[in-house]
Amino acid sequence: MDATVVPVSLDQRSYDVVVGERLLEQMRDFAESEKPTSIFLVTDSNVGPLHAEAVQNAIVANHVFTVPAGESSKSLVQLGKLFDQLFATRHVDRHSLIVALGGGMVGDLAGFVAATLLRGVRCMQVPTSLLAMVDSSVGGKTAVNHASGKNLIGAFHQPAAVFCDMHFLRTLPKREYVSALGEVVKTAAISGEDLLAMLEDCADGLIGRDLVTLHRVIEACIRFKAEVVSDDEIETTGRRATLNFGHTLAHVLEALWPERWLHGEAVSIGIIAALRLSVARAKLDESVAARVTGLLRKFGLPTVVPDELQARQMLECMSADKKRAGQAVHFVVISDVGQAGTLPCKLDDELAATLLGRGDA
Ligand code: GLY
Repeated sequence: MDATVVPVSLDQRSYDVVVGERLLEQMRDFAESEKPTSIFLVTDSNVGPLHAEAVQNAIVANHVFTVPAGESSKSLVQLGKLFDQLFATRHVDRHSLIVALGGGMVGDLAGFVAATLLRGVRCMQVPTSLLAMVDSSVGGKTAVNHASGKNLIGAFHQPAAVFCDMHFLRTLPKREYVSALGEVVKTAAISGEDLLAMLEDCADGLIGRDLVTLHRVIEACIRFKAEVVSDDEIETTGRRATLNFGHTLAHVLEALWPERWLHGEAVSIGIIAALRLSVARAKLDESVAARVTGLLRKFGLPTVVPDELQARQMLECMSADKKRAGQAVHFVVISDVGQAGTLPCKLDDELAATLLGRGDA
């Protein structure tokens, strides 16, 4: 299957997302055409040994920096170390190109380096995880974490190009792969019937990493994200915020039990809560909620809010959420497949009972 190109239209910041398999040649052509003075490849200790050499050779990167794998590298400390390494090369200038080769952590970290280095240099995203391909590598969100919360220090900095090479998915551990399907289901719920029906039709192929199926699904997710980002680049109108469907509870779970779930698993549980809220307060038909839940189950994702999560604890955690506005938290709900919006909700017992699905919350 030939590679396909999804444009992200943002005036002078427009770029292409290329989806395909074995894209090294396209990456090389792009890197050459950009005529950078130097190319810095940033990867992590899981992905680097598997794929860095091939990518470095293809794009003729001058330097490769490998950060320890794991979310803890998305830190100001690691950011400082990268700047030290970059400046030590004496090859940094405003025409340098940063290439992020890895999953969401590397994309966010290297993207933030590119956003802030000399007030901003070009960045090419080469996601190697399904999660990064369908979501985080597209749209220009870059960040590192702070002790007070995830992604609290960051910038919008659109990449110059994104290459989603499905070849990298062959080495992705099963749990990580399946976890990303949580974000895929999220995209289906908020984008519309086409993707939801496609997932229902091809769930087995997707579980088996069938390349034709993967290509269709990744491309559909990116097309939707590209449209949302083109419409609301820096999350001002509320449209882009709908990409956070299922994320409010997911963030609580990740904050309370940082090691227990992968992001897409936490999102899966969060989607269940968001569906309950949508049924209760946005007139979502139970049958639609059942279809979305059925897909999450089919993929083997967690769909039960853990019993240990206490209502009070959850509400306290939500009140610290960065999307807080006055007394309300803005939840993303759907009134039908593809009909997403935000709903300000008071953090009270009634809300907790709905989200947790427990009458005694
Ligand atoms: N992952 C949500 C966004 O890019 O806005």
